[in-house]
Amino acid sequence: MIIDRLGRQFKNLRVSLTSACNYACTYCVPDGKKLQPLSHELNGEELFHAVRLVVEGAGVNRLRITGGEPLLSKKFEEFLRGVMSLGLDDVGITTNGQLLPRYMPVIRETGLKRINISLDTLDASKFRSIARSGDLATVQKGIEMSLDAGMRVKINTVPVRSGNENQILPLLDYSLDRQIELRYIELMNMGHLKYSNLYAQEYIGMKEILSIIQEKYEIRPANAPVDSTSIRYEIPGRGFFGIIANESEPFCRTCSRLRISSNGDLYGCLSN
Ligand code: 5AD
Repeated sequence: MIIDRLGRQFKNLRVSLTSACNYACTYCVPDGKKLQPLSHELNGEELFHAVRLVVEGAGVNRLRITGGEPLLSKKFEEFLRGVMSLGLDDVGITTNGQLLPRYMPVIRETGLKRINISLDTLDASKFRSIARSGDLATVQKGIEMSLDAGMRVKINTVPVRSGNENQILPLLDYSLDRQIELRYIELMNMGHLKYSNLYAQEYIGMKEILSIIQEKYEIRPANAPVDSTSIRYEIPGRGFFGIIANESEPFCRTCSRLRISSNGDLYGCLSN
């Protein structure tokens, strides 16, 4: 077991397969950003070995495969199969969905039950201007395929002032119609955002998100696990949604996450 000096236990491991991504979202990637060379990445065997050591040594029972975009990595299939053989309580993937149609047969075969798909807008041209790549219809197809496979699907949306402010309600309706839990992620002040006034211009906080939703729906607080990052709400008769309020209600005190980067670094916080 790993317990830090604040008494936090880390039972939850997030593994980045690669820092590469097939999107270049405006809030994540500055123009002309260079990705880390692939040669610095652990190969699949090394990464899986590291994961096994951490799972056994730290008593981790929940794992999430992330990136970059994890489905871009050549390691993905073998790594997923390996992780699924560890007998953990919970395994999930966070993906932008672009390659989901291609990988769905493998994912189904492994019995993976949870998938979080990033989607910032339902407007196809806005989609291209935020992600600067990919296409909306493919993500939507991936979402439908995941639902058809019986997986628990969540959608992650980062509301940003210049990009998708008007999508806060449409994305909620889209998700509610499909019994998907939508999570709004407050824009985090990281990467290139830190070095300009972009962050202040683009940030939309929980209060504002809630007030937009309350123009249409009655909401009430819903339960969430202690170490959940999401503040959950119920829209009675319709479903649930959550807000990951990194900035306005930081959840560092109850954080239970350890992270392994694609280079094999073990670390505790996304902001470091
Ligand atoms: N703040 C909040 N969320 C971010 N993501 C990427 N960069 C940021 C940021 N600065 C989101 C992606 C994806 C999830 C994995 O992280 O949009 O939904």
